[in-house]
Amino acid sequence: MLDQHTINVIKSTVPVLEVHGVAITKTFYSNLFKDNPSLFNIFNQTNQTKGRQQGALANTVYAAAQHIDNLEPIVPVVVQIAHKHVSLGILPEHYPIVGQYLLAAIKEVLGDAATDEIIDAWGKAYGVIADIFISVEEDLYKAAEQNGGWRAFKQFEIARTVKESDDVTSFYLTPVDGSKVPAYKPGQYISIRVKAPGEEYLLNRQYTLSQPSNSEEFRISVKRESEHNPKGKVSNFLHEAAIGTTIDVSAPAGVFTYEPTEAPVLFISGGIGVTPLNTMLQSIQNKENVTFIQCARNENVLAFHEAIQNKMNSLNGPTGLRKLFSAFKKDSNPHHKVLYSDKNEYIDANVLRPILTRDTQVYICGPTPFMEAAINALHECNIADSQIHYEFFGPALQLNTK
Ligand SMILES: Cc1cc2nc3c(=O)[nH]c(=O)nc-3n(C[C@H](O)[C@H](O)[C@H](O)COP(=O)(O)OP(=O)(O)OC[C@H]3O[C@@H](n4cnc5c(N)ncnc54)[C@H](O)[C@@H]3O)c2cc1C
Ligand code: HEM
Repeated sequence: MLDQHTINVIKSTVPVLEVHGVAITKTFYSNLFKDNPSLFNIFNQTNQTKGRQQGALANTVYAAAQHIDNLEPIVPVVVQIAHKHVSLGILPEHYPIVGQYLLAAIKEVLGDAATDEIIDAWGKAYGVIADIFISVEEDLYKAAEQNGGWRAFKQFEIARTVKESDDVTSFYLTPVDGSKVPAYKPGQYISIRVKAPGEEYLLNRQYTLSQPSNSEEFRISVKRESEHNPKGKVSNFLHEAAIGTTIDVSAPAGVFTYEPTEAPVLFISGGIGVTPLNTMLQSIQNKENVTFIQCARNENVLAFHEAIQNKMNSLNGPTGLRKLFSAFKKDSNPHHKVLYSDKNEYIDANVLRPILTRDTQVYICGPTPFMEAAINALHECNIADSQIHYEFFGPALQLNTK
């Protein structure tokens, strides 16, 4: 444990480091990658270029340092990050490298203000924080192995594909060695690692397991990212890959999972954010108070509509003549709503209020502004944050909500 003096030094310097956060982070990453280019095989370079990942690591270190004398409150955050780390095969030996470059960046940016005492204190704090990550990650690796999983990556092949909408295709993945796949919780993801043509480094991305657990195969459902320049690297690689192509796959990970409850449940998906929520829905048995709001640009890019509709009908659908009628009419199940942004249909408090009860548990996944709008509308309807569960399809960010 750290002595009180070291703790005081760390706590009094956190605000200084935060002020210089951007400069420290930039220096840190640029030196880290310059000296260790093989780390490009692990880090998502698009997130780096777009600045999404940049602040996350250092900001978490500062946040942890603020609680250095009682790290209990940050454990949930550590666990969430640790899941991402283990899905990418991060190992204990990576931590001293990151620590060395973070300290060097602090020294470089702060200059003379970074006394030996300060650097020494931050070295110790980083060590304490890194040890927590390493130990949580070791527990996750062990749990994965006990559950029929593995550390880092295993070779899978694309066994077959199914087109789900104009831009979403499902990929069924089976282990090349013919083994079974481990069980997972609805909402969890895998990391995949590919060597794409023309790319110097391996590319890693996370994809939600898009069907409930079965021991034969994983399924991921990938939106082809082709609207911007440059096009999405891994999604386009997958959409162009032939059946039989091999890719590296991690064991399942992730903390955005469905917790069975007696309370009403509302799923709100935006675009490809439907994947974890559909898996959650499909895993539910014998529950009537479930509602699904699916948002998409238009009908052509609406994936899993039928699967959701069928499941909603089996949970709380129409019976008798109404059932027959509903087969011809979309949205006839009042528990399944579809909103198209091309028709100016958006989530707001008026849409949500009739659906919500005081104790509804809400699961949301979609683009960041979409999630912000949905959460603001839920707040307007007095739904507490403890009832709202969401996941980013990228590095976790601070949401800008009221
Ligand atoms: C937990 C989790 C679960 C996920 N689940 C799914 C899922 O089920 N299905 C799914 O489809 N995705 C999912 N994702 C997202 C997925 O991991 C990828 O981020 C996504 O497929 C894009 O990867 P890519 O390599 O195709 O695009 P990238 O190459 O990473 O590019 C991302 C986007 O940025 C644009 N871009 C690239 N470079 C630039 C630049 N310099 N300037 C401006 N724009 C640029 C690209 O055109 C593209 O639209 C999930 C992510 C997470 C974290
Ligand atoms: C105490 C030290 C560390 C902290 C506080 C930390 C923190 C973080 C955070 C906050 C994220 C974003 C999580 C998310 O996606 O939501 C992240 C992701 C990541 N971390 Fe760490 N990390 C640490 C150490 C390391 C080490 C040692 C490595 C390996 C060299 C590493 C590699 C990664 C990678 C590759 C990602 C995913 C990046 C992406 O896909 O954009 N981290 N980490």
